[in-house]
Amino acid sequence: DKGEYRHYMAKEIHEQPEVVGRTLAHYVDMAAGRVMLPEALPFDFARLTRVYITACGTAFYAGLVARYWFEQIARLPVEIDVASEARYREAPLERDGLTLVISQSGETADTLASLRYAKSQGQHTLSVVNVPTSTIARESSVVMPTLAGPEIGVASTKAFSCQLTVLLCLAIAAGRARGTLDAAGERRLIDALIRAPGLMAEALTHEGAIEILAREVAKARDVLYLGRGTSYPMALEGALKLKEISYIHAEGYAAGELKHGPIALIDESVPVIVIAPHDAVFEKTVSNMQEVAARGGRIVLIGDAKGAAEHGLETLATFTMPAVDAMVAPIVYAVPIQLLAYHTAVFMGKDVDQPRNLAKSVTVE
Ligand code: M6R
Repeated sequence: DKGEYRHYMAKEIHEQPEVVGRTLAHYVDMAAGRVMLPEALPFDFARLTRVYITACGTAFYAGLVARYWFEQIARLPVEIDVASEARYREAPLERDGLTLVISQSGETADTLASLRYAKSQGQHTLSVVNVPTSTIARESSVVMPTLAGPEIGVASTKAFSCQLTVLLCLAIAAGRARGTLDAAGERRLIDALIRAPGLMAEALTHEGAIEILAREVAKARDVLYLGRGTSYPMALEGALKLKEISYIHAEGYAAGELKHGPIALIDESVPVIVIAPHDAVFEKTVSNMQEVAARGGRIVLIGDAKGAAEHGLETLATFTMPAVDAMVAPIVYAVPIQLLAYHTAVFMGKDVDQPRNLAKSVTVE
C-alpha cells in the first residue's frame, strides 16, 4: 500500500527515519552507548587479517562505504568486489577468514554464488540481508538483518540506508574487539549514530528545493557525481539511482580522478553533483569544484552550512544538510541523492517503481 504517496519509491524514501531508527534499536544499547550484536559471532574480529566483502548494485556501494569504516574504525583491511566478478575470480580466501555479503532480497544469484564459493574455501560467512527467510540468510553462518521492511520500488532506498546502519554497527563492534576503538570513542560514535534518524528527517525537508532542481537535471544528457572518502561510493550510488529510473546517463567518480579523464566532459550542459560534507577531505573536494567551475561546469553541492560558507564558488544549487559526524554522513546524505533521482524521473514521466529492463530481484546471472 502506497498510502498517501504517488510511488512506492517516495514512500520508502520517507520511511527511512523510522526504519533506520528501528534497525538501530536492534543493534545498539542506547543507554550504555554500545553496539549490541544480537548473535554471538563464530569468529573473532581481533584475529582476522582482513574482511572480504561482496554484493551487487546498491548493496555493493553500501559495502564500499563500509570499507572506509572497517579500515578507519577497526584498522581492518577490506577487500571488496562485485559478486559477478567475485564468484569467478577464484580469489584465494584464507580458511577461517570472513566473507561479508550484502543483499536486500537475499536471492541475488551472483551474491549467492559468491557466498557459496567463500564457504567452499572454509570462510565464515556473515550476511546483511533484508529478507530473513531468503536463501542467502539461510546459507550464511551469521545473519544481521536490516529491518527496513518490504522494499517494493525497484530502486533500492530504505534497504540501502539500513544496510549502512548495520555495517557501521558492525565496524564499531570490530573496532572494540580489535582494541582500536575505546569505550569513549564508541559512545561518541553511537551518540552520532542515534541522531541519524532525526537528521534524515531534516534532510527530507529539502524535498521541495530538490524537486525544483530536478527540472534542470531532467534536461541533461549526462550527469557527473563526485565525492571523496565515503562520499565517493555515495557518488556511485547517486549515479546508479539517477540512471536506473530516469535513463539519463550518469557516472560517479572519485573527485580526485576528475583530472584523469572525466574533466574532458565538463561544459555548461553537464550538471556536476558534488557530495561533500565538511569532513577531513572537504578542502580537496573544493579544489575539484574549482576545476569544474573554471570550465563552465554547473555545480550542485550537497554539503553542509560550514562547507557552503567556505568554498566561495557559484553553484547551480546548494543543499545544506544538517551537520553530522563524518562517519555517519553517508546515512544522512543518502536522502537528497535519492530524492534528486526520484524527482528527476517523475518530472520526466518515467515509471519510477518499475523502470524498464530491470527486475527487483536478479535471481539469474
Ligand atoms: O537484492 P540485492 O540487494 O542483492 O540486489 C542487488 C542489486 O540488484 C540492487 O541493489 C540493484 O542495483 C538496485 N536496482 C539498485 O537500486
